[in-house]
Amino acid sequence: MLSVSNVAKSFGGLHVLHDVNFTADSASITALIGPNGAGKSTLVNIIGGVLKPDAGRVHLDGEDVTGVPSATAFAKGITRTFQISGNVGSLNVFESVAVAAYRQARGYRQANALARAELERFELWEYRDQQLGSIPTALTRLVDFARAMVSRPKVLLLDEVMAGLTPHEVDLVIRQVGTCREQGVAIVMIEHVMQAVEALADHVVVLNQGQVIASGSLGDVSRNAEVVEAYLGTPPSERDEVRVPADTPAKGQQ
Ligand SMILES: Nc1ncnc2c1ncn2[C@@H]1O[C@H](COP(=O)(O)OP(=O)(O)O)[C@@H](O)[C@H]1O
Ligand SMILES: [Mg+2]
Repeated sequence: MLSVSNVAKSFGGLHVLHDVNFTADSASITALIGPNGAGKSTLVNIIGGVLKPDAGRVHLDGEDVTGVPSATAFAKGITRTFQISGNVGSLNVFESVAVAAYRQARGYRQANALARAELERFELWEYRDQQLGSIPTALTRLVDFARAMVSRPKVLLLDEVMAGLTPHEVDLVIRQVGTCREQGVAIVMIEHVMQAVEALADHVVVLNQGQVIASGSLGDVSRNAEVVEAYLGTPPSERDEVRVPADTPAKGQQ
């Protein structure tokens, strides 16, 4: 289980996170939602070891992993994707996934076999020889996701992996995230595509101005006045993107 307690972070004078607490269980999907600038990516960067918090702790299965470097976090099973896919140098699609398979593989043959299986699952096998820089952005996101999955993480951090994908690709990723949950992974998913949140989230945590303002089922948080206010307070241009469904029944009430 992943637990985040009392996490705070500032950039210069800008207080981005204040006293953030939540837990994410194994074999469950926690959706982290909130308006742009709420601090979601910063929080995920702290969990993934990309940033150190100013205060608070992150624990994985009881072990304190606060502020460990991202390579250490990865070695311990915390894997992430980036909202903006990083430049992975001159690797092709196959190589970039095979490299990540080493976390759990015994040797390169097994890593290659795992990479192939993952690329086939993501319908990416035909792109295996292409350089990462030469494929469309949406495909880069899928490769990013395949790379995260192939490391068989304990915690998978997804930062807007559905953004810009076609409906077919969104369905594909939704299925893959579901499979990942079945494999026992604790998934923390920043997502604006509400179709994905509705389909997947066991638990929703709403962040606004660096604070958790609500958590619970999607139905519960959608009916929370502070959540509605936070979303309606965003400029109209951003409303569609972060739409909270008005009347989604809570799980178990359908
Ligand atoms: N490295 C940084 N330096 C300074 N300010 C930052 C940095 N990263 C994020 N911020 C600021 O922190 C706030 C939260 O950003 P972010 O975590 O990316 O929000 P979200 O992912 O919810 O949109 C924003 O105001 C953003 O401009
Ligand atoms: Mg973000």
